[in-house]
Amino acid sequence: MSLLSLFSSRFSLRQPQRLAALTVLRAMSSNSKLDFSTPIHRITPGALVDKDAYKKTVPILALKVEPSQTGYFLKNEAMRGAILDVPRYKSVVHSPDGRRLVLTRFDDKNDFPPPTQQFLEKEKAEIVNYNIELDYDYWTAEAILHASLPEELVDGAPVGFAKVGHIAHLNLNDEYLPYKHFIGQVILDKNSSGQEGLHTGIETVVNKLDSIDNQFRVFKMEVLAGPPNFAVMHRESNCSFFFDFSKVYWNSRLHHEHERLVETFKPEDVIADVFAGVGPFALPAARKKCGIFANDLNPISFNCLNLNARLNNVTQLVRASCLDGKEFIRTVILKALQDPLPPAQAVKFNKDLRRESKQRKQAQKKNVEGSQSEQGSPSGRNRITHFVMNLPASAVEFLDAFRGILSPDNVGGRDLSGIYDKANMPMIHCYTFTRELETEKAEVDIRQRVEEQLGAPIEEDISFHLVRSVAPNKEMYCISFRLPYGLAYGA
Ligand SMILES: C[S@@+](CC[C@H](N)C(=O)[O-])C[C@H]1O[C@@H](n2cnc3c(N)ncnc32)[C@H](O)[C@@H]1O
Repeated sequence: MSLLSLFSSRFSLRQPQRLAALTVLRAMSSNSKLDFSTPIHRITPGALVDKDAYKKTVPILALKVEPSQTGYFLKNEAMRGAILDVPRYKSVVHSPDGRRLVLTRFDDKNDFPPPTQQFLEKEKAEIVNYNIELDYDYWTAEAILHASLPEELVDGAPVGFAKVGHIAHLNLNDEYLPYKHFIGQVILDKNSSGQEGLHTGIETVVNKLDSIDNQFRVFKMEVLAGPPNFAVMHRESNCSFFFDFSKVYWNSRLHHEHERLVETFKPEDVIADVFAGVGPFALPAARKKCGIFANDLNPISFNCLNLNARLNNVTQLVRASCLDGKEFIRTVILKALQDPLPPAQAVKFNKDLRRESKQRKQAQKKNVEGSQSEQGSPSGRNRITHFVMNLPASAVEFLDAFRGILSPDNVGGRDLSGIYDKANMPMIHCYTFTRELETEKAEVDIRQRVEEQLGAPIEEDISFHLVRSVAPNKEMYCISFRLPYGLAYGA
């Protein structure tokens, strides 16, 4: 086993870390004896960060050269493998006398490879001692945690976190809890370098306290480092989301799933988002010009959803409500008929207005008639094309609400067969968990529960998508299917 594989397997490194480790090991390998490893400082439970414990001096040899000669020494073939090459440390520094110090990876002249020795003798190079001073700020979070946590906790040390605006959200395993404040501080220190005022960096580190079992899917959290400020501005899918992370549901790990589903929508679609939260499906879909009915029972989510619709300039396309999911499903069909959404082609965002103005100018120049992209006044969109149901713990239990939603009794005596015909029934995208880990068994399990709750078989356009594993024996899926015609028109 190579030194790198050994190092990587010991510390379970990802690719960028492997590369960094490889560079450090290169500096330590061959005939160089330099030791750039992090000073070991094993901590006890409850310990806080002691930055002084990570200071280290690495004595090396440097070549003192004229500034104009720096490139010559750096690039000369004979110096190959002799120049210092460690991550985040320059190989040339200024000398107080105005000259430059080209740093080598050796602390003893006798260790220079023969071609380097001959070259340096020929050039009469001035070789001087130089101390590389490394400290807490130099080492990565991984390096500090690996050098500080008790040895048995090094493997699997919690360096990853979900980023929610300026908050780093950890989910520490029990064995790490005695060291939680230390871990939080290291993560804050190593990830706080955001541009001022732009909240790109981490300012607060929190740890999840319990599993989410309350109705609004909000979890309790404990602040490990930084101020207890939970009001975040988070960017996802080119939209801005403002919310209080301690009062509404948000999961940055669903980012790709939000994008995946929205990608399948066409601008003409009308989406009914039954459990919309603060809008991670609804608002990116609205930016695509989809019409949106977005619902959430949590009044705080509902307020944020409205605020975020304003923030993202899509209020004309978003109708928000704060109802129980079943009531929303039963009432949204009529709502769409009574309060249709503007047609996609009538919706103008700034970029459309700019494009149209450019087109108008070009047409005027060419004196061309009829360049108007305005499409008269097409009627509004009143037909829901997709239902989104992301409440995986219980969304399936809401499916019985679809029985008879298109029947005249449910829509004020109207006959909707001209609007919702057999070929045009809405798609339902329903999220759920399963304990079945084999794909086939998972799909059978989900389909069975869905059909049971609907009270009818599903037959058209069925697909399953594995979203993510939420626990070793629990997976999250999205089942998509077309609402069965007979069921929707049944009483
Ligand atoms: C898992 S979150 C999903 C939020 C968002 N769609 C997303 O993908 O991040 C489920 C949402 O459903 C809301 N909720 C819970 N019970 C509900 C109910 N009975 N009716 C409507 N919304 C409900 C919660 O407040 C929460 O915002």
